[in-house]
Amino acid sequence: MKIIISCFFLLLILVPLLASSVEKKVYIVYFGEHKHGEKAFHEIEKTHLSYLHSVKESEEDATSSLLYSYKHSINGFAARLTPDEASKLSGMEEVVSVFPSHGKYSVQTTRSWKFVGLDEGEDHSWNKFKMGGEDLLSKAKYGKNVIIGVMDSGVWPESPSFSDEGMDPTPKSWKGICQEGVGFNSSHCNKKIIGARYYVKGFESAHGPVNATEDYLSPRDMDGHGTHTASTAAGRQVSNVAALGGFARGTASGGAPLARLAIYKACWAIPNQPKANGNTCFAEDMLAAMDDAIADGVDILSVSIGTAEPLPFEDDTIGLGALHAAKRNILVVCSAGNNGPAPGTLSNAAPWVITVGASSLDRTFFAPLILGNGLKIIGQSVTPYKIKEQMYPLVYAGDVVVPGVPQNVTGQCLPGSLDPDKVKGKIVVCLRGAGLRVGKGIEVKRAGGVGFILANSEANGNDVLCDSHLLPANAVTYDDRTKILDYINSTKNPMAMIRPARTELHYKPAPFMAGFTSRGPNVVDPNVLKPDITAPGLNILAAWSEASSPSKIPDDHRSVKYNLYSGTSMSCPHVSGAAALLRAIHPDWSIAAIKSALMTTTGITNNIGRPITDSLGNIATPFQFGSGHFRPVKAADPGLIYDASYDDYLLYLCYAGPKALKEIKSAFKCPDEPPSSVNLNYPSFAIPNLNTTVAITRTVTNVGRRKSRYFFTAKPPAGVRVKASPSILHFNRVGQKQSFTITVSPRNDPTARKSEYGFGWYTWADGYYHVRSPMAVYLP
Ligand SMILES: *[C@@H]1O[C@H](CO)[C@@H](O)[C@H](O)[C@H]1NC(C)=O
Ligand SMILES: *[C@@H]1O[C@H](CO)[C@@H](O)[C@H](O)[C@H]1NC(C)=O
Ligand SMILES: *[C@@H]1O[C@H](CO)[C@@H](O)[C@H](O)[C@H]1NC(C)=O
Ligand SMILES: *[C@@H]1O[C@H](CO)[C@@H](O)[C@H](O)[C@H]1NC(C)=O
Ligand SMILES: *[C@@H]1O[C@H](CO)[C@@H](O)[C@H](O)[C@H]1NC(C)=O
Repeated sequence: MKIIISCFFLLLILVPLLASSVEKKVYIVYFGEHKHGEKAFHEIEKTHLSYLHSVKESEEDATSSLLYSYKHSINGFAARLTPDEASKLSGMEEVVSVFPSHGKYSVQTTRSWKFVGLDEGEDHSWNKFKMGGEDLLSKAKYGKNVIIGVMDSGVWPESPSFSDEGMDPTPKSWKGICQEGVGFNSSHCNKKIIGARYYVKGFESAHGPVNATEDYLSPRDMDGHGTHTASTAAGRQVSNVAALGGFARGTASGGAPLARLAIYKACWAIPNQPKANGNTCFAEDMLAAMDDAIADGVDILSVSIGTAEPLPFEDDTIGLGALHAAKRNILVVCSAGNNGPAPGTLSNAAPWVITVGASSLDRTFFAPLILGNGLKIIGQSVTPYKIKEQMYPLVYAGDVVVPGVPQNVTGQCLPGSLDPDKVKGKIVVCLRGAGLRVGKGIEVKRAGGVGFILANSEANGNDVLCDSHLLPANAVTYDDRTKILDYINSTKNPMAMIRPARTELHYKPAPFMAGFTSRGPNVVDPNVLKPDITAPGLNILAAWSEASSPSKIPDDHRSVKYNLYSGTSMSCPHVSGAAALLRAIHPDWSIAAIKSALMTTTGITNNIGRPITDSLGNIATPFQFGSGHFRPVKAADPGLIYDASYDDYLLYLCYAGPKALKEIKSAFKCPDEPPSSVNLNYPSFAIPNLNTTVAITRTVTNVGRRKSRYFFTAKPPAGVRVKASPSILHFNRVGQKQSFTITVSPRNDPTARKSEYGFGWYTWADGYYHVRSPMAVYLP
């Protein structure tokens, strides 16, 4: 039986040139899209093996080198190959591309739902909604007919957040399984966790068998990250939970508390490293997980995984899997990454995924620190340990090191760096920068210190991260660090007192952008503005693995059910949960429509009515927050949407995809002159070099009132003129589409800033709806 292989698009043919060594590496051999209908899976595997056999010595050799045969929608396989074998395969007619695997991927309350207006009986005065959060939840039936897949480090199924009490039977459409393994059997799935699988062949190929003391060879989570993200997206409402020490007490809930969860574990503990260093996820394992998730029938896939630097399309496994998902109208929601504040750091930039940045909540852990000169500094702390409310000697770590500590790590409190004779009985100021945050506290404790102050670097700004330290602690902003160090330097006997901390709500201003959130511009395609949106990702409380510890470092033997954690990994599942509610309310919407609704209804001011800032108090830009802070309640009723189809994404790739695309036979016929990617029907736009007038086309679909008239307004950056034609759009029915052209041109303006990006907005408004899009324009 012959499989019809359609080579769609995408992916540069990577031929390793230095082919002298015969060392085998894992490669992914990609054929595009399956067209097999109900074809038997073993036939597909046989075909894949025949390709493999054609470059291998024997059938046994082919069979033993095969890791995965992707059978559902992704047509391809992963196998151990020599560079020579990989090169032979890439030369074959049907093969779209061959690319080497890598493990560059890593995983990067709750108050947050109240903060965005998605909770009952709470004051959302800074976010006035017509419809209350409770209305949205009940209209969406709390997401009970929606299935959210979570690709991460697994799950701790015993968490009360995953109870299935009172839930309806699993949807009939569900095709997934509950894969058994270490500490995980079929009874761990229920009507909440309706599926669980794990993918380890790529990991084991690189690192050898999973070490049972470091991870579970099963969907069970030994880390905490996957449990945290899954419960943020779709955890049940569990009242009266708190972090260690009673901080952040309240009701923990996912965005779609009755949505179903399907767990795809593709990230594993890095051997011989503290868990706090994060997990590692291999391209071929993730692709297998995504292929299964699509076939199992998830509606949304939440992916809090990324890379340290942006990956081009030909290397972007998550983007590739997400494109196959897009064909089936499955929305993939991704974290933007934690590599800020440097520009151009964001990952997961494919336009068919939602890329989520991270910002703060209006909750702080108010912790006064009194200096000997009377100066009171308000840090943050969630330490469960008590310290006497009295003055202790205060030292800067850089002044109390053992000889030989390198200059570049002085003040960092790295293991073994502090001199116990100079630290005993004192409070020590440690700087952030190198090493694990909780590890710094452990070093102070080892050297006999009574408490420590974790001081932000300039890059950290005001992102005060609340870790569960193992001694009394206080974390301070960069500004406060300067004050403390100045004080230490100004006196002979510096002293300080750490006072007890407490949880404070309604902190102002909030939100602000986290310093760590990865930034635009989108270096993969600067014509598409990324990230798309921001959501809470700073000190988020959610469920945790009881096999882990709150700090995930080896010397921490505490176990918790809920934990505070920070990252774009935490903001991503917030948007996944919200998208699940939109999917429930608008089952007929495309993924582009859901994304558009989320993006055009965002907030761009904080709770004091000012523009959202970065972590240093400067006004933040769309390169940090995309369209703005998500507002799920508004997103349910956006007025207009910018729709796009799967074919639109393929057309986009004709322009923006790798050059090799043009050389391969393709089922999707690219036009000879594909339109510029700036014309993808996206709810925002970016122009990377405005040296002449640029015309941008867009089409909006009416999903609001039947009869309506929308007016165009724009607030472009200085030195840029923006006009729309037509500038009034009339609609007579729901579902009606109207196209318009935006003309962007440079104009003389002495205040214009040259050789950098400027930011602005344009809006379609009918007096009720405000459909707002951001723009980023670079003036040469
Ligand atoms: C699954 O594991 C639990 C304990 O973890 C055990 O009580 C139960 O009997 C097991 N069920 C099956 C079907 O093996
Ligand atoms: C398994 O991991 C533990 C903890 O990291 C380590 O001590 C042990 O040596 C590892 N075992 C093997 C076989 O690598
Ligand atoms: C400090 O410098 C040493 C030697 O130059 C280098 O090996 C080390 O990685 C540096 N450490 C940090 C944290 O930058
Ligand atoms: C203290 O002051 C000295 C001299 O002005 C300076 O070199 C040093 O960096 C300061 N130390 C701190 C911790 O600010
Ligand atoms: C204008 O910018 C585009 C995009 O960067 C570039 O390709 C083109 O060469 C530029 N034209 C001029 C006249 O500088």
